[in-house]
Amino acid sequence: MALHRRVDEAEADSELDINPVYVREVHLHVPRNRLPEHGMLPDTALQAVRDELILDGNARLNLATFVTTWMEPQAQQLMADCFDKNMIDKDEYPQTAELERRCVNILAELWHAPGCEPGPDGTALATGVGCSTTGSSEACMLGGMALLWRWRARRAAAGADTTKPNLVMGSNVQVCWEKFCRYWQVEPRLVPMAAGRLHLTGAEAAARCDENTIGVVAVMGSTMDGSYEPVLEINEELDKLKAAKGLDIPIHVDGASGGFVAPFLHPDLLWDFRVPRVASINSSGHKYGLVYPGVGWVVWRDAEALPEDLIFKVNYLGGEMPTFALNFSRPGSQVAAQYYNFLRLGFSGYQEIQQACQDVAKYLSSEIAVMGPFELLTDGSDLPVFAFKLRDPDAVGYTVFDLSERLRQRGWLVPAYTFPEDLQDTAVIRIVVRNGLSRDLAEVLLNDLKVQVQVLDAHPHPPAPLMPGSTRERGGFAH
Ligand SMILES: Cc1ncc(COP(=O)(O)O)c(C=O)c1O
Repeated sequence: MALHRRVDEAEADSELDINPVYVREVHLHVPRNRLPEHGMLPDTALQAVRDELILDGNARLNLATFVTTWMEPQAQQLMADCFDKNMIDKDEYPQTAELERRCVNILAELWHAPGCEPGPDGTALATGVGCSTTGSSEACMLGGMALLWRWRARRAAAGADTTKPNLVMGSNVQVCWEKFCRYWQVEPRLVPMAAGRLHLTGAEAAARCDENTIGVVAVMGSTMDGSYEPVLEINEELDKLKAAKGLDIPIHVDGASGGFVAPFLHPDLLWDFRVPRVASINSSGHKYGLVYPGVGWVVWRDAEALPEDLIFKVNYLGGEMPTFALNFSRPGSQVAAQYYNFLRLGFSGYQEIQQACQDVAKYLSSEIAVMGPFELLTDGSDLPVFAFKLRDPDAVGYTVFDLSERLRQRGWLVPAYTFPEDLQDTAVIRIVVRNGLSRDLAEVLLNDLKVQVQVLDAHPHPPAPLMPGSTRERGGFAH
């Protein structure tokens, strides 16, 4: 949530302009930044708010976001049916709680949590340990807290210092991990990116671990370029560290996007609980889980991986239900919609959708690769996401920021940004292919890209500042 400052009414346009032709309440005075003294008719309020919102971009053309921008009308109806149910009221809405439990179980099986796969008689030995959240950020916080609590308990039991925890991860991690470290006072040990190494490797991770390392974060699909980090290789290097120094370090997999992609497109890739050091996995139901925003999931390998003292009990059917969350109230709609998707699509439906996304991503990247000025950093083979840069930025009279801006004139929201520290001079464009970006739309995008390259080639110009008088460099989009 962006933090906003109080608006100075003297400087701002203080009243909303309501078109008198379309409303029954003429001469309405509606302050923009203060609570109006009196209310208005619902249609008037609807008109006023809708009119403002038309300035937002078109969500379907937003190729910057990983988050779902289209659901079936039936799913929308189901969500509307559940907006009024509070997820936390387990006692009042026990069936919503039951759907959450089933979703956790489905994910635990999908991610190969031990005992969660059905045996020969069709029943599983274990049920999944996990919960829904508002998104991957909260899920990562919970995963990180479990690592921190377990490390602290181990150290306390050994009579060792518990004041200097650290977490090892690539500098390409999403900002939620920096937040986790800041809020819980954990030292972030960021492995820098380097030319040709755009994410974490096993050796680089192990080299930064010590007795204060609470865990290593491996990202299954990097937000920067969609590439998977090598979870198995990280596991192997941590095994070597255990043999050499006795350090026993767990892995948390941030599968914000990949948790709903890898099981369907890369079933043989070992990245989940089949990898022994993986203690917990998060994913965003609202990304490739195909639900509208606000739902994430976190699943632990087993009950042992989630310290008991992090769990709170809420009332449930006269009994108690264990919960673990940072927030309290939250609508039940997203969980119902996630379960709807599981029923509606099944394994094959998810596979078909993710495959269609990947086909479009690979098609787009292969066409962009042969256009001339661009070089691919990734091609959409992991997540259906790819990044590309100008092959020789000094040889052309424009930047990826110019291209991004020009594509926006046509409605495409395609972010350009620079990589983190140590690779800040690399500026790229990233395209996230989601359900709904059809091959036809991809053709239109390619065509628009070609036209804009021609225009910029013919009319090179020095980079314009972001705002009149601004000296801020164009670093781009915040992930
Ligand atoms: C790898 C990764 N982790 C965490 C997040 C945060 O996810 P959410 O937006 O669901 O909170 C993102 C979002 O893009 C991400 O890509």
